[in-house]
Amino acid sequence: MPNRIEIKTAALPLKATGTLVVYVAEGAAPVGGAADVWQATGLDWVKVAAAASFKGKQGQVIDLLAPSGVAADRLLVLGSGKPAPDAGLSAWTDRGGSLAGKLAGIKASKAAVLLDGAEATPERIGELAAGLRLRHYKFDRYKPAKADDNGDSTLAVTLHVDARSAVDKAIADRQATAEGTLLARDLIHLPPNVLGTLEFAAEAAKLAELGVEIEQLDEKAMRKLGMNALLGVAQGSARPPRLVIMRWNGGKAKEQPIAFIGKGVVFDSGGISLKPGLGMEDMKGDMGGAAAVTGLMHALAARKAKVNAIGVIGLVENMPSGTAYRPGDILTAMSGTTIEIVNTDAEGRLVLADALWYTQDRFKPKFMINLATLTGAIGVALGNDHAGLFSNDDDLSAKLLAAGLATGEKLWRLPMGAAYDKQIDSRFADIKNSGGRPAGSITAAQFLARFVNDVPWAHLDIAAVALASPASETNAAWASGFGVALLDRLVRDNYEAK
Ligand code: BES
Ligand code: MN
Ligand code: ZN
Repeated sequence: MPNRIEIKTAALPLKATGTLVVYVAEGAAPVGGAADVWQATGLDWVKVAAAASFKGKQGQVIDLLAPSGVAADRLLVLGSGKPAPDAGLSAWTDRGGSLAGKLAGIKASKAAVLLDGAEATPERIGELAAGLRLRHYKFDRYKPAKADDNGDSTLAVTLHVDARSAVDKAIADRQATAEGTLLARDLIHLPPNVLGTLEFAAEAAKLAELGVEIEQLDEKAMRKLGMNALLGVAQGSARPPRLVIMRWNGGKAKEQPIAFIGKGVVFDSGGISLKPGLGMEDMKGDMGGAAAVTGLMHALAARKAKVNAIGVIGLVENMPSGTAYRPGDILTAMSGTTIEIVNTDAEGRLVLADALWYTQDRFKPKFMINLATLTGAIGVALGNDHAGLFSNDDDLSAKLLAAGLATGEKLWRLPMGAAYDKQIDSRFADIKNSGGRPAGSITAAQFLARFVNDVPWAHLDIAAVALASPASETNAAWASGFGVALLDRLVRDNYEAK
């Protein structure tokens, strides 16, 4: 049975069955509707809180079964922490995620959540609802829950709120973004036998239903354009490459578009420079950048963002075979730059080289942001709490860093500079595709920069944050969908007509 969640709102006052959830702030007694509920139980707040060691801290809980005086068959009092009037929105996404975790922990199938009071603005409740969805998500297509596990695997949550119509609007708006993140997670999770290049392209093409214009370049079209770097990677696979172009025209007709480019290696074996076997299965997720771009385009279209945005994804498979590209090969990219291949496992930058060049050449965008699971080295540098940010533009970087803090999809900017170019000088061609171990993530960024002209550009290396994710308040799955919420926030706060 698939794992589903339904979220709706209801007006106050509250008439709840199932599990009733109320919040109490740190160091405080219940107030507002929560005070009424508590009074109905007839219990002594100070005694119960002491017995449960409940101080109202985020994550703390008082769990009462069949409380008398209350229609619900379970009452959860959750700590909401210190009241922080200007806490970032991500604190509310986390609150929703934490709630979904608690409800899953008690196998609740029906819950009513009391969200009254001035703190609970529509925008924040929208975030909480998004957090519920994100945390509830599970990739269970090949391992559905057994019917007798938990009976009904649908969780129905009713949020009891003051300003219902404003809240409904905020929830729908934020749901569009959360759906984008979940689409990205699904694409990343799908096994590589099921999601090849053509299958990914077909998934992206489904965005047409939301009004996204789709174009696809096949091998022949790319050959004609001279995309020999991307095609070099693809040539060892039985699966043909695709470049998919997604256009969302929500802005004014003449408005210059913004552009997002994703690395879509549906499986990265390393090619002739074959990867070691241990953990190679994770390389089904080497299309995490393309998944984030697809999820973002979904989000922008689903919430009808007032912006012109372009998504470009390069879809290839990196395989060893008799037709595969080799170390020693020299490829001529669409830009005319010649590239000596020294390691066929440094393939993502080759795909992006042509995708970036094509995007700036054809669309003359306001900026380009690419996302890629590009280097293992980024995890050595930053671990999995920040993605790497590389950019030629301080203003775009500042906006991205701010969007990271607002969404919890955090970035850390790393240096770039001509000194690093020495590592990718080649004896036989303009550049080589690997600079070796030192500063491996930076030399990869330097490589990409060779294919970017005067346009503001940022490269997000998401190799250590998009997959094999540690559990967080908003994600219990393997893939995070990193990048969708971040870039949706970047667009909302800076590039949309109000
Ligand atoms: N797809 C990998 C990077 C990666 C590693 C993504 C771990 C997700 C998790 C990329 O194509 C790659 O193989 N990079 C090499 C570059 C090296 C050959 C210069 C790497 O990181 O070792
Ligand atoms: Mn590789
Ligand atoms: Zn790769």
